[in-house]
Amino acid sequence: MKDTSLNNFLYQNGAKDDLRHLIIDIATSSKYIIHSIKTGDLGIAGTSNLYGEKQLALDILSDKIITDSLIESNLVCALASEEKEDIQTIDSAGKYAVVFDPLDGSSLVGTNLAVGSIFGIFESNDLNNKTGKDLIAALYVMYGPRTTLIFSIGNGVHEFTLNDVYEYVLTKKNIIISNTASSFSPGNINSIKTNSKYNNLFTHWITSNYKLRYSGGMVPDVNSILLREEGIFSYPGTNKTPKGKLRLLYECIPMAYIISNAGGKASNGYKDILDIKIESVNQRTPIFIGSKNAVEKVEELLKVGAG
Ligand code: F6P
Repeated sequence: MKDTSLNNFLYQNGAKDDLRHLIIDIATSSKYIIHSIKTGDLGIAGTSNLYGEKQLALDILSDKIITDSLIESNLVCALASEEKEDIQTIDSAGKYAVVFDPLDGSSLVGTNLAVGSIFGIFESNDLNNKTGKDLIAALYVMYGPRTTLIFSIGNGVHEFTLNDVYEYVLTKKNIIISNTASSFSPGNINSIKTNSKYNNLFTHWITSNYKLRYSGGMVPDVNSILLREEGIFSYPGTNKTPKGKLRLLYECIPMAYIISNAGGKASNGYKDILDIKIESVNQRTPIFIGSKNAVEKVEELLKVGAG
């Protein structure tokens, strides 16, 4: 039987033509990024992004590849990238705003671990006071031993894999993750030193015999939950940085949309990530994401003794 292409699947899945074209354009830009990761300059670019993090040459290149392709698509009226200071408005007939992290976990490229690009798509040019519930699609591309693209347009979560002739073909459709988890991916575990509730949480995972599955990259860690169909990933804050490190707009909202569409849940510990208002492009949030019951257990443990 013939493989199902991304274009064909989007068509069958009911994606509007311009959204289908936009997702295809994003998928095409990922093919240039995977080539740069495999062969490109791994050096530091000598600049910092707005979070003060050193930008790798690859971060800047990936940002440029995606930005150019979005502008050229003529489908986008605004874009926001983790590597840019602010929202960029685009003079076009397009109606979509695309938010993206061009190369999440880019420092892992140096040790040859998996990285990814994350995208959220809104049908609006104004993100202020919007929430993740206003997304109309989200996707990520994971550059691992294989390159895969996972997307949702609100009716299921599907995996595509880049084949030997650089086409994305359907490898798994309608991914559903189980309500219960038996593995955990705990980011920022230093938080347990200063927060007894996080300490309780960590103890709960250990005493429940959860298996450790942690790579240090949000894309491969969340991808692992989706593909194994269970688990929980966390990145809490510390006393000094109560909101943690991960960005609401570029990382947490698109991943929350995808996981929620696969039957899972994402929370900041108290509130659904998809209900948090976007107040600025560089907003951060703690996150607990994955199997529904496991995330609800986090909310329960964080509530205990709360004022
Ligand atoms: O935000 C980038 C990122 O690399 C995520 O992909 C990952 O989950 C997190 O940072 C890891 O952070 P740390 O370096 O604190 O473990």
